[in-house]
Amino acid sequence: MEKLVIEGGARLRGAVTASGAKNAALPILFATLLAPGEHRIANVPELADVSSTLSLIGRIGCPSLAGPTTRIDTSRIAFCEAPYDVVRKMRASVLALGPLLARCGEARVSLPGGCAIGVRPIDEHLKGLERLGCRFVLEGGMVHGRTDGLRGAEIRLSVPTVTGTENILMAAVLADGVSVLENVAREPEIVDLVRFLRTLGARIEGEGTSTLRVEGVSRLVPASRPYRILPDRIETGTMLAAAAVSGGDVTVRGAMPENLRAVLDQLRIGGCTVDVDGDDVRVRRDGPLGPTTVTTEPHPGFPTDMQAQLMALVAFADGTSVIEETIFENRFLHAAELCRMGARIETRANTATVHGVPKLTGAAVMASDLRASAALVIAGLGAEGLTEVLRIYHLDRGYDDIVGKLRGLGARIARVSDAVRDRAAMQRAIDESAAVA
Ligand code: EPU
Repeated sequence: MEKLVIEGGARLRGAVTASGAKNAALPILFATLLAPGEHRIANVPELADVSSTLSLIGRIGCPSLAGPTTRIDTSRIAFCEAPYDVVRKMRASVLALGPLLARCGEARVSLPGGCAIGVRPIDEHLKGLERLGCRFVLEGGMVHGRTDGLRGAEIRLSVPTVTGTENILMAAVLADGVSVLENVAREPEIVDLVRFLRTLGARIEGEGTSTLRVEGVSRLVPASRPYRILPDRIETGTMLAAAAVSGGDVTVRGAMPENLRAVLDQLRIGGCTVDVDGDDVRVRRDGPLGPTTVTTEPHPGFPTDMQAQLMALVAFADGTSVIEETIFENRFLHAAELCRMGARIETRANTATVHGVPKLTGAAVMASDLRASAALVIAGLGAEGLTEVLRIYHLDRGYDDIVGKLRGLGARIARVSDAVRDRAAMQRAIDESAAVA
């Protein structure tokens, strides 16, 4: 296994281009199952979760050619199953459920179970699909769904779940009649999925609002032109938080900043200058970092997927910040790791109080999930000395070449084998990596 080694203190400067959004790419890749034929999807990020999705789709019987423009041939479906060995690596495999039920009338998907950030049930997915005419039984840890014909229905979600909305929507597009989905998620990634489904011939209105109206159609057909995935707002936010912690000056190009207003507001509160120019966003910081009070919320509120990165940033602030996590019940595992670097953070239930300190000190820290890993990288960039971030397979799940991108901005960072323990060797790896940049 590999780890990241980071020498803190370098000011990040320059420009990077946003990659395609993980959380848009995954549902869109699954949605190709709805329309038999050859699909081309552009701006697909290079991530472990994308590889897992393509491998799952491959096992279902649909070959693909991965790349920035990924080709998938969904002409034939051989198996309607997402087995546990894939689902346990990537919870988003549950997104196979809606498309398989709509296309084949049957789906067997392993129950994802909990994960480091919370219990994460899928009851809302199942209730919504039941309303459309599916029946489910649970056998051997698998959800086995069947339908003898999907029918449009009125469905009100109890929580605006993102993948739940996507699953139900992907089934409703091929249902007989009209569906009205209420209290749905409004995330930009849902909007992107709707736009993609429209290119296949789906009839949907209301994306970006809490009600979707879907007029079912009898068949969907792959689009003649490649569909381009929207930029990753969480990757952009992470890069900008890295710029802010380093007292740097970084522009993220092609970022669609309108999708990350709440994050940009927080960076301004923290004392950064934020300039938006079309699709580009530039963040600079010369003065001290200020504290903040923030609550995570569904879009357009402050995203839970940026909570850990913001916590790392305000760990250096001049004052006390309060961060409330309302989406997931256990998403503060990074706090204890940040404390190992000298941060002063108290967590009680879903609230973290972060007493800013003038400096953090590099340490060996353990990533618990994707965004926690990003937070530890940010902390390492701002800390004094050498930080080792272990278990970076979490980072590889969701960030496209984060090391290369940060290095291009002047960060002193390298990937090394876990077996490298000698500080001089780690230092050498960082020097060599900087020389390549
Ligand atoms: N929930 C239920 N019942 C359900 C579904 C969800 O109670 O049937 C609850 C969850 O337990 C949670 C809340 O609703 O407390 C919101 O969860 P949601 O279902 O919206 O999360 P998700 O769809 O599983 C997606 C992203 C996550 C992101 C969340 C929230 C994808 C593939 N994943 O997950 O992304 O944190 O929405 O915005 O889109 C990440 O990228 O690091 C990540 C975790």
